[in-house]
Amino acid sequence: MDRWITIGSTTIPGSDTELTLSQCNDDFAIRIAGVPGDLMNSRLHHSEDALAEFACTRLRASESAHILVGGLGMGFTLAAVLKAVEVSARVIVAELVPAVVEWNQGPLGQCAGRPIEDDRTHVHLGDVADLLKQSTGKFDAILLDVDNGPEPMTHSDNEWLYSPGGLKRIYEKLQPEGIVTIWSARADQVFTKRLKKTGFKVQLRTVRARPGKGSRYTIFVAQKPRVQK
Ligand SMILES: C[S@@+](CC[C@H](N)C(=O)[O-])C[C@H]1O[C@@H](n2cnc3c(N)ncnc32)[C@H](O)[C@@H]1O
Repeated sequence: MDRWITIGSTTIPGSDTELTLSQCNDDFAIRIAGVPGDLMNSRLHHSEDALAEFACTRLRASESAHILVGGLGMGFTLAAVLKAVEVSARVIVAELVPAVVEWNQGPLGQCAGRPIEDDRTHVHLGDVADLLKQSTGKFDAILLDVDNGPEPMTHSDNEWLYSPGGLKRIYEKLQPEGIVTIWSARADQVFTKRLKKTGFKVQLRTVRARPGKGSRYTIFVAQKPRVQK
C-alpha cells in the first residue's frame, strides 16, 4: 500500500523529543515529532555517502585505520566508510538512541546493506561527545552527522561538539593529517572560522541530496596538519 505507516517510536535520551520510524513499501523515514520534513529518508543519502568519501579518500590503502562515525541513522555513512577502507579497519559508530540501533537490526537495516553486522563495525550506544571526551587512543578520521549542523536540532547537548572546546577535543583525538568531516544543512562562516582557529585546514564542499539534484547541503572537511605549530 502506498502510504506511510509509523512502525516505531521512541524518545531521545535526556529529552522529551519523540523520534519515529515510518515505512512506505521499501522506503523508510526517521522523523522528529513536531519538526516538518524528515531527519533521514532512505531515498536521499548522497550527502551521507559523500561525508564518508571525503573522510576516507586518503585511508583507502591504510592498514588498520581507526575511524569514528557519530550518528548511525540509517547506516548509509557507515556503509560508505566500510566500502572505502581496508578489511583491517576498525570503525566505531556511536548512536545516542538505542531504538535507532534496534531499527537497524530490523527491516531498516536492509537500506544500507546491514553495515552494523560487518566484522569491522563496533556499535557504541551513547553520546559521541562522551566517547570523544572519555576514550583514549586516536582516530584517522572522525565523521559527524548527528544533527542539522552547527545549529543543533535533535539534541541541544550537541552544541558542545561544534563549540571551540568540542573542536579542540576533536583535534586532539585525530592523528596528524587526520580528517574530520561534518554534515550541515548549510554553510556557516562563523563555524568555518572556528575550525580554522582550532588549527584545521578547512574546505567546504556542497553536496546535493541526490546525485546532481535535490537540496544542497554543506560538508565541512577539516584536516589536522602533519606538523602542529
Ligand atoms: C541524520 S542521522 C545520521 C544519518 C547517517 N549519516 C546515515 O547515513 O543514515 C543522525 C543520527 O545521529 C544520532 N545522534 C544525535 N545526536 C547524537 C549524539 N550526540 N551522539 C550519537 N548519536 C547521535 C541520531 O539519533 C540519529 O540516528
